[in-house]
Amino acid sequence: MRLLRALLCLGLLAEATLASRVRTRRELAPGLYEHGVYDAGGSYCQRGDVCCHGRDDGCTVPYHDTLCYCDLFCNRTVSDCCPDFWEYCLGIPAPFPKAPGCARAGRRYPTGATYRENCNLCTCGPGGTWQCEDHACLMDGELIDAINRGNYGWRAANYSQFWGMKLEDGVRYRLGTFRPSPTVMNMNEMHMSMDSNEVLPRHFDAAAKWPGMIHEPLDQGNCAGSWAFSTAAVASDRISIHSMGHMTPALSPQNLLSCDTRNQRGCSGGRLDGAWWYLRRRGVVTDECYPFTSQESQPAAQPCMMHSRSTGRGKRQATARCPNPQTRANEIYQSTPAYRLSSSEKEIMKELLENGPVQAILEVHEDFFMYKSGIYRHTPVAEGKGPKHQRHGTHSVKITG
Ligand SMILES: *[C@@H]1O[C@H](CO)[C@@H](O)[C@H](O)[C@H]1NC(C)=O
Ligand SMILES: *[C@@H]1O[C@H](CO)[C@@H](O)[C@H](O)[C@H]1NC(C)=O
Repeated sequence: MRLLRALLCLGLLAEATLASRVRTRRELAPGLYEHGVYDAGGSYCQRGDVCCHGRDDGCTVPYHDTLCYCDLFCNRTVSDCCPDFWEYCLGIPAPFPKAPGCARAGRRYPTGATYRENCNLCTCGPGGTWQCEDHACLMDGELIDAINRGNYGWRAANYSQFWGMKLEDGVRYRLGTFRPSPTVMNMNEMHMSMDSNEVLPRHFDAAAKWPGMIHEPLDQGNCAGSWAFSTAAVASDRISIHSMGHMTPALSPQNLLSCDTRNQRGCSGGRLDGAWWYLRRRGVVTDECYPFTSQESQPAAQPCMMHSRSTGRGKRQATARCPNPQTRANEIYQSTPAYRLSSSEKEIMKELLENGPVQAILEVHEDFFMYKSGIYRHTPVAEGKGPKHQRHGTHSVKITG
């Protein structure tokens, strides 16, 4: 191989005729001539200034870690130094079979082989090059770095459980609250009586003020049911606080997901006003009694396993057994009517301080999925590719401090 390379370079410099070079090669290495030179290292290509010294004919193509120069020297009926010569330089398909497969990290892979690059699938195409999908990913290393460099008041982190997911799937499966409908906006708005120079504490944590009554968040997994999770979470804390700790139920999101089906779409999203209506009129059992089982992968919504009567108020027995056979405590908890706060930050703070956690709807952008700590605000660096509706969604959360 070393000898062949030396001869060809010599031939190039001497401007020998094509025929004589070919003959030289044929004599030296008939196998290589017949099947083409599939030397990914690029015998003829510029590498370390060995062969194509000083050559720049404006027809170059990057190939692996080298730069190939295409010119008539390469225009033979066998493969040549520039694997893309025919397509790239002449615009016609090569008249000989290509080197089979694709290279990656020093290994060759057959045509059709695949690997994943974060959320994108790369396939070894018939042309011997990797063809990769071009989706925006839920975790994006560059974006994480840009956010953390940018001093936006919050830190981003790489969540390995989200690695490999597409951004549009995060929006589709990890949020799940419909935009506020007119009926949410029609909910009674409460105005706190605020003294304009009332001083609110700089720091507040509901779990410190009401120990044992603020519940840890549950993981909604790949179920776009934040409408049910945030409502059950806020209602759990409020019932605990209002009963002064006599009842501290962790209410069941699954009960809402499976049973509150009127205009609701379970793990495909739902409305907050509908969830509160159900909690007030029907009530739900605890998470222990009716545990979370839904996943996006389940095609049909699960049937409701916990019907309750719609009369009366307060705590009462369900008419059915708990779906969890280990639990017999099937009390149903109902809430008082929900009300809406104004969007004044101070009023929200005061409500939280006096009455407990509040629920909020937020517009989610791609950077939110990488949120780790600090005060989140949408950063200007996060405006990636893809249609807007696949990059944005609405989510609801419980605010505890
Ligand atoms: C390259 O070779 C092909 C086939 O032998 C020929 O048709 C074509 O004209 C050549 N191209 C150039 C640029 O000489
Ligand atoms: C993020 O985490 C994934 C999975 O743990 C890892 O493969 C990847 O290299 C990490 N990326 C960055 C930018 O830290």
